[in-house]
Amino acid sequence: MLATVTEESTETDAAKMITAPEAMGDDLSARPDENVDSLIPPFPDETREITIGNLQIPTRYFLAPLAGYTHLAFRQVIRERGGLGLATTDLVQAVHIVHKHRKSYELIATNDVDRPLSVQIYGSKLDEMSKAAKVLQDQGYSAIDINMGCPMAKIVGTGGGARLACDANVAKKLVGTILESVSIPVTVKMRLGWDRENMTAPYLAREFEKLGVAAITIHGRTRAQGFSGRTDLFGIKSVVDAVEKIPVVGNGDVRTVADAFRMRRITGCDAVAVGRGAMLDPWLYFRIQRAYQGLTGPWDPPAEEQIEFLRRHFYLMLEQHGAERSCVEFRKFGIWYGARLGIPEDLEKRMQNFWSVEEFEANIAELRVRHGTRKNPIPTADIKVPNGPISHW
Ligand SMILES: Cc1cc2nc3c(=O)[nH]c(=O)nc-3n(C[C@H](O)[C@H](O)[C@H](O)COP(=O)(O)O)c2cc1C
Repeated sequence: MLATVTEESTETDAAKMITAPEAMGDDLSARPDENVDSLIPPFPDETREITIGNLQIPTRYFLAPLAGYTHLAFRQVIRERGGLGLATTDLVQAVHIVHKHRKSYELIATNDVDRPLSVQIYGSKLDEMSKAAKVLQDQGYSAIDINMGCPMAKIVGTGGGARLACDANVAKKLVGTILESVSIPVTVKMRLGWDRENMTAPYLAREFEKLGVAAITIHGRTRAQGFSGRTDLFGIKSVVDAVEKIPVVGNGDVRTVADAFRMRRITGCDAVAVGRGAMLDPWLYFRIQRAYQGLTGPWDPPAEEQIEFLRRHFYLMLEQHGAERSCVEFRKFGIWYGARLGIPEDLEKRMQNFWSVEEFEANIAELRVRHGTRKNPIPTADIKVPNGPISHW
């Protein structure tokens, strides 16, 4: 399969695509002698807020969609701490929005605190995608995000996800149709291209801008890369350079305040979307806001705050899903919170296997006294990227 940006593309368009493997970028890993002060915004002429289409977003640091994780409770608990700009829901299938599929509606459930919120949709059928966009607009969502970065076999197989980004005409038609059906901002999330030889994102970003897309989120890897290697900051920069004025949101491998600022400095992107980094450190947005206030020294939430945060996350889940399901679904979060708090192995096991609110509270009581017992806690809680056919998100 390979990409074809197109019967329509001109030489100039083609020149906008980066093809050289040498363009592989700078990486975001921590530098021992790094001083966050040297990276810190404000960047020239920058406001703290950002406008996407007609939408005012309070900060430039966003939550990237993470299927299975970025549900209402998680979004809300982060928002309550402060610093998060735009959040996007897990990916939902357009046809399921149209037909009121219960599970998809659970994924996009929201409330007044959870604003602004964009719903990410996928699908390849024009009528389904535009109907879904309309339904979402009528229900008051702030924006629609079109998934063009998802290479899951079942999604690619139907012509949606990353495959869309391989056929520019099909992609443009789809985007154009959705744009015609709604007036709220429509954005597109994609990877750099199918592989290093087919880096279609700069070309597509500019074409989508011409159609009226309000912003592009770009994960700085190719589809072929899956999650391997590093985010290519120069690849992201090539998308920033390709568009005329719409905001570009950089994405990939941001774990720290310095990572976020470095991505913005090197790529010139207007905003940053954080995915896995928000799981490992849900305080990241708050840290970034502290940095904006000039507070760049080391800071960690006190253990008691971390514990209250994890309880709040759990109780918000309870409100939406009830005890049985929340106990099961919270376990994967418990691992990260537990790892961050340095809890001993036996307690970690219990955090992964509790069945009632009473058990949860008993674990919390223990956690209050036994945190900090484990050294080097974080490596045990690496975020799993999807395996098998979905390893290429
Ligand atoms: C578990 C998991 C689920 C994901 N789900 C989605 C999704 O629903 N839609 C999407 O566009 N990207 C999805 N992604 C990709 C992320 O949004 C993001 O582009 C990628 O993880 C790189 O950013 P990060 O290093 O900040 O996580 C997912 C990634 C992971 C690890």
